[in-house]
Amino acid sequence: MSSKKPVREITITVDGREIDAEEGAMLVDAAKHGDVEIPVFCYEPKLGAPVGACRMCLVEVEGIPKLQTACSTPVRDGMVIYTQTDQVKEAQNAIVEFLLVNHPLDCPVCDKGGECPLQDISMGWGVGKSRFTDPKRHFEKPVPLSPLIGIDRERCIMCYRCVRFSQEVAEDEQLQLLERGQASYVGTFDERPYIAPFHGNITELCPVGALTSYTYRFRARPWDIEQAGSVCTLCPSQCNVRFTVRDEEVKRVLARDNPEVDDGWLCDRGRYGFEMLSGDARIKGPILRAGGNSTDAAWPHAIERAAGALERGGERTAAIIGDASNEEGYLVQRILREALGSPHIDSRRAGGPRRADLVALSNPAISAKVTDIDHADAILVIGTDPLHDSPILDLRIRKAVRRTGARLAVATERPSGLDGGAVASARYAPGAAATFLADLCSALADRDGPGEGPAAEVAGVLRGAKDVVVVWGERIGRGASGDEAIDGLLALAEGLGLSGREESGLLEIPDVTNARGLREVGCLPDAGPGLVATSAGYPTEQIRRALEDGELKTILLFGVDVDRDFSDPAAWHRALGEADDVIAFSLLGTESTTQADVVFPLESHAEKDGTVTHPEGRLQRVRPSAKRPGEVRPAWQVLTEIAAALGHETGISSAPEALAAVSEAVPFYAGASDSSIGGRGIRWQELAGSAGVLPRDTQREARMLDGTTGSGEGRASRVPGEGTGDAGTSLLLGTYRDLWAGPITEQNSALRFLTPQQRVEIAPQDAERLSLSQGDHVKVRSNSNAVDARVLIRERMQPGACFLIEGTVEGNANGLLNGGGEVVEITKVETSAPPGVGQ
Ligand code: SF4
Ligand code: SF4
Ligand code: FES
Repeated sequence: MSSKKPVREITITVDGREIDAEEGAMLVDAAKHGDVEIPVFCYEPKLGAPVGACRMCLVEVEGIPKLQTACSTPVRDGMVIYTQTDQVKEAQNAIVEFLLVNHPLDCPVCDKGGECPLQDISMGWGVGKSRFTDPKRHFEKPVPLSPLIGIDRERCIMCYRCVRFSQEVAEDEQLQLLERGQASYVGTFDERPYIAPFHGNITELCPVGALTSYTYRFRARPWDIEQAGSVCTLCPSQCNVRFTVRDEEVKRVLARDNPEVDDGWLCDRGRYGFEMLSGDARIKGPILRAGGNSTDAAWPHAIERAAGALERGGERTAAIIGDASNEEGYLVQRILREALGSPHIDSRRAGGPRRADLVALSNPAISAKVTDIDHADAILVIGTDPLHDSPILDLRIRKAVRRTGARLAVATERPSGLDGGAVASARYAPGAAATFLADLCSALADRDGPGEGPAAEVAGVLRGAKDVVVVWGERIGRGASGDEAIDGLLALAEGLGLSGREESGLLEIPDVTNARGLREVGCLPDAGPGLVATSAGYPTEQIRRALEDGELKTILLFGVDVDRDFSDPAAWHRALGEADDVIAFSLLGTESTTQADVVFPLESHAEKDGTVTHPEGRLQRVRPSAKRPGEVRPAWQVLTEIAAALGHETGISSAPEALAAVSEAVPFYAGASDSSIGGRGIRWQELAGSAGVLPRDTQREARMLDGTTGSGEGRASRVPGEGTGDAGTSLLLGTYRDLWAGPITEQNSALRFLTPQQRVEIAPQDAERLSLSQGDHVKVRSNSNAVDARVLIRERMQPGACFLIEGTVEGNANGLLNGGGEVVEITKVETSAPPGVGQ
């Protein structure tokens, strides 16, 4: 069982100076408190327990005859350490000399040159000359380790950092130290390419220039570049990043360690997904469309045209907001509500928690922080696959299981990579989270013991655990029984007694990056800024129907791509076709923008100045790091100008003023400013002004009183054949968003090899029943549409269910979705034609 150990302060003496330290800290870290730097190569606390491989950190400890490695020696009270004695210096000189025996010293052409620990340590702790004059070892260089990373083997100093990352952090186990002794080298089994979603971290870990990425190799030297700190907004993890900028373009993305958010890691999506920021698909200025022709427009003209369209639409205008900062979302809802009098605003893709539930879920007493995962006794992951939905949390959960012994339970529709490390792993039918949660609550309430069945097994993991973190996916709130699932989640929090427990709580993984912020600034059909109840408008799906019916006339799409983000894109295109006016704000040109009458370009996360809210409630600042291409302008500015053209002065004329307006409008953001947010962000729950200002969840209270919450009964999906044993050829369709689906692979040539091909995942029993084999080309057919796919037979699948990827270029599963609970037929295609979309 994990638990936070109490910390005891002790005193040690380093080079004659007394230093306060935490008992058990590694000497190398404790010494830093006294400004004593001990050189290291292999030591990296993010990788877990030290391995003491390189011997660079040798020091003298009084009372111990031999030199000790400071990276793996825990400090004790009264310890006396020397880091500058002749014996220590001799050892340091010898290690540097030894490391350089075969090192090629190609610093002038090495990408690490100028930012290389080996250079720095050789200068600081080496003797400056070598006694070895024999020819050095040489290898072919670079050898591709993956399509993105090359290895210069002669530069490797065998510190094991990359291998430890692969084995102990990402747990992909692909990198190995092969051969023995001086023949050892870093590689993969059978020289297979190292393909894994976090592998880019090894280039940052490597303390020499042995591992370099092809996207940056020979692109810049340290004196050519500027580094700027910001936040990656390509998924809800909101990792902290540093952009390396040369000639005003992003050339590299590095981690900016923020242990409270990302633990210092990045996924490859965030690390390599920057080419699209300056690519051809980028919209670089306003575009107007008339009579089927698109023309570039001057800003004043485009703003006038958009304002005219919005004015015509008036209260029959709707807005859907996707990829946006808090300030942008706040201004869009303000235009709709205050300038046009329309309540039809949403930022949720497919239903999701209602206002009253959001208020209940925002209660700090039942909310978890990301760092709570680190010392949880038990973790439940329900309705999400963090690897695809919020990758950095996948690493965090693995770390808790591996290093602190957290007991993991997984309850999902689809198998996930976390199943392997879970004590209990349960499957439920697509759309049946409500039923599972109701069963789980009953199992937890059963005082006679956990009972039997998947929910009971999960209950067995959670029962009696002191600190429990429930990581849940927004998608459990989708579909017919979505509201009941959210009620079930709140009932679970109650059943587990999470309220007020310091290091326990619920942590959401939402569908879009800034979902929490957008809801809190008022991008909901029934809530304004601060989740305050407003007159009810239409949610996303109803907006589509109202456009098709002609009830709504104008639509503003902000950071939304209807083909990738919504169910039934064909219906959306019909709805956009029916609208009198479509205004789109978009980073990239898409099918949706081709239907828009006015298109405004959006800034990327490397250019934007604004804030986003992490799912744990942390306000983070996105800072401009690179130059905006072409005519791109800040969206907050464009929105204030559109508002002004509608006669609604916002009083906002700068990014800080936009943030000030947001923190004034959202009572629990009071006190959020550039300085309080700083470089690490601040949870609004910790802002001085946030206490007690959440609106009361009166609707939920009413439902609790009339007993309609948390029942989890009735409308949940069932897999075909359940109860009868005769499923015929039908399967219940589930979908998921693959990490690599969408523009990230289409618009970044470096990542294109990861573009997912559509495949239908089915259980072995169903494959046998339907006479399907691995890799078969099939058609997956719903009532209205069909998609081509390859068969992927997976263990641990729920029989009767199948899964497709949302948002792929070919065979987009969104085309089969229409409100949830879709049943599909799978039939084999006898031709060898490549999978695509069919009818
Ligand atoms: Fe260390 Fe780099 Fe060699 Fe890996 S490749 S063992 S990180 S020096
Ligand atoms: Fe960006 Fe998400 Fe990857 Fe972090 S996990 S680097 S936020 S895409
Ligand atoms: Fe201590 Fe490598 S840093 S042995």
